[in-house]
Amino acid sequence: MKDLAMIKKAVMNSIEHAKTLEALDDVRVKYLSKKGEISQLMSELKNLSPEERPAFGARVNMLKQEVGDALAKKKEAIEDQLLMASLAREEMDVTLPGYQFYSGSIHPLNQVIEDLEDLFIGMGYKIAEGPEVENDYYNFEMMNLEKDHPARDMQDTFYINEEILLRTHTSPVQARTMLQSQGKPLKIICPGKVYRRDDDDPTHSHQFQQIEGLVIDKTISLANLKDALLKMARHLFGENREIRLRPSYFPFTEPSVEVDVSYIKKDGTTGYIEILGAGMVHPNVLKMGGYDPEVYSGFAFGVGVERIAILKYQIDDIRHFYTNDLRFLNQFKGDVR
Ligand code: PHE
Repeated sequence: MKDLAMIKKAVMNSIEHAKTLEALDDVRVKYLSKKGEISQLMSELKNLSPEERPAFGARVNMLKQEVGDALAKKKEAIEDQLLMASLAREEMDVTLPGYQFYSGSIHPLNQVIEDLEDLFIGMGYKIAEGPEVENDYYNFEMMNLEKDHPARDMQDTFYINEEILLRTHTSPVQARTMLQSQGKPLKIICPGKVYRRDDDDPTHSHQFQQIEGLVIDKTISLANLKDALLKMARHLFGENREIRLRPSYFPFTEPSVEVDVSYIKKDGTTGYIEILGAGMVHPNVLKMGGYDPEVYSGFAFGVGVERIAILKYQIDDIRHFYTNDLRFLNQFKGDVR
């Protein structure tokens, strides 16, 4: 019985100090396997008196049970520890900042277009579109420029054949939208590419973009045009800007104006720089579009997107917009509005 107590002390001590599953199994083998110290105790029975045997046997079995339980408990504890350690190793911190990956950006011309679309949509305009490969009919004739009209020379273009050309301005979308609207009031802007036979240089490109505006209703006056354009100029360049309307000529508007926006020169005085062409829709254009010019009136404007971007971002060569040099484009990252 005294041996039993000593063995119990020793085995419990070994279990407690076992650090790994392997060490724990060594303890099990040492005491509980067939040749193990506890199993061997049974062979001591023969050295005991018959009266002592049952009590001793019961004690040995109890010890076996206790050691078995202690081993199982310790095994669980070690496994828990292992699990916690592996979880700690594999832990990931979702709050760590991500790594910077390469992303593109919105092209400065598209930034200008989207910005103006937002502005005009906010004023109740709809976005209209038309084809870049256009009929002479819509590009010129419906815009009050009949076949041999001398003002066609203002916009020399690329002809596909006698009747089909690359549109020289977004104004043909005026005609298309008027016909679609079947005499009802309308309020649209139309961004898009246009083409002219120009030699490319820092201020000219054979392909560029415009935004056309057209409003038709019963009471539209030049004052409405001026109001819309002033809002646009201030939205683009700042609330302290003014606009100036100068008389001009377009076959599809009467009167026609060229519109300048004010800026402060280096010497502190105010200067004006041209940003767009506009005017009151010519009665002939209204008539061809299905509107009675005695009842309806309208204004129209056409603004060059590149011109706005050049002024807004102080760009020295229009060709920067088209050559896709990342050193140029990356300067407009995150500059949306
Ligand atoms: N279509 C003209 C151009 O491209 C601009 C414009 C549009 C002028 C609408 C008046 C009215 O030069």
